[in-house]
Amino acid sequence: MTGPVLHVVGARPNMPKAAPVLRALASRDVPQLLVHTGQHYDDVMSASLIRDLGMPEPDINLGIGSGPHGRQTGLVLQAIEPLLVEHQPAIVVVYGDVNSTLAAALAAVKLHIAVAHVEAGLRSFDRTMPEEINRRLVDHVSDLLLVTAPEGLVNLAAEGVDPARCHLVGNPMIDSLVATLGRIDAAATRTRLGLPHDYVLATMHRPANIDDEQTARTTRDVLAEVATRIPVVLPVHPRSRVALAHLDAAPGVLIRDPLDYPDFLAALAGARAVITDSGGVQEETTSLGVSCLTMRTTTERPITITHGTNRLVAPADVLRVLDEVLQSPPATTSAPPLWDGRAGERIADVLVATIATADRGGR
Ligand code: UD1
Repeated sequence: MTGPVLHVVGARPNMPKAAPVLRALASRDVPQLLVHTGQHYDDVMSASLIRDLGMPEPDINLGIGSGPHGRQTGLVLQAIEPLLVEHQPAIVVVYGDVNSTLAAALAAVKLHIAVAHVEAGLRSFDRTMPEEINRRLVDHVSDLLLVTAPEGLVNLAAEGVDPARCHLVGNPMIDSLVATLGRIDAAATRTRLGLPHDYVLATMHRPANIDDEQTARTTRDVLAEVATRIPVVLPVHPRSRVALAHLDAAPGVLIRDPLDYPDFLAALAGARAVITDSGGVQEETTSLGVSCLTMRTTTERPITITHGTNRLVAPADVLRVLDEVLQSPPATTSAPPLWDGRAGERIADVLVATIATADRGGR
């Protein structure tokens, strides 16, 4: 093999997707290099998550940190290029749709290094979301598109992406969920966290729900109103700290710092329902069979609605839908195809086969 498999991670949601792939390749003795861009840097957003997932320590941390989109993306692009030149990876693997993902994919493709995109093909069709721009661009510069759900294949075909480059591999984030819940005592964790018996878990961090003062007020009002019905546990993402801080005073709202990954999964698994704007949480609740109200107008993960427990709900409808959910028996789901805890192995199969073909001069 010419060079290592070089993985690039940067933000919290990259880690549970990368961990199973790193593990599966390590078990096959494939040389690997893990590069962390430093987009996320708080312990709970990065280092403790890496430890909890049993990932190796990153070989290199670019220490990019926070900033406006152009600056953050540009700094990663600039910092990663010389690394790629130095290490000449056989392939660069990027995850999800964050700014680090776009920057790394762009740097690699311009150096004629193959790019594999894990979580390819998702589309919200909402171009105001930074993630939608990132995922479209990354898909179109990638050599290998590793797709979590069948609609991803449809989206990519509609955009003219060669189907031979697309592989339905399932969802590696569910590998991490299954492995983590398999090794912890979720009920004991909830007791340690002091969670009430019945509660709604809420997470809110999208710019659309947080950044503008008026929408932030609507978000706060909805959560405060829900808390008059049932306690709301609200682990607050760092970017939402200021916007959601006033909720501290709202009766029934239990504001928490961001939770460690195993603690968060235990809290999700025990919730009566979840209110969120996160992409990953829509998938995790579908896997767990916990009802999910997504406070957005679109989702790039429609399989969580067709197969899962997810509903898109406008702020004005949250209370009504939540009442329905709380009065119904637990949601039923049929797990989306290949969300079975073995996606990391399938991704490793595709990567190893692709590298072997390239080594034989087939690229
Ligand atoms: C990023 C991703 C988003 C993902 C989210 C998960 C992009 C465009 N967005 O959004 O898709 O859902 O991660 O968390 O890449 N901050 C800290 N500590 C940290 C990291 C961030 O305090 O460790 C604060 C800073 O104030 C920073 C803000 O959060 O300015 C936003 O961080 P950033 O990485 O730009 O975007 P996220 O909102 O985290």
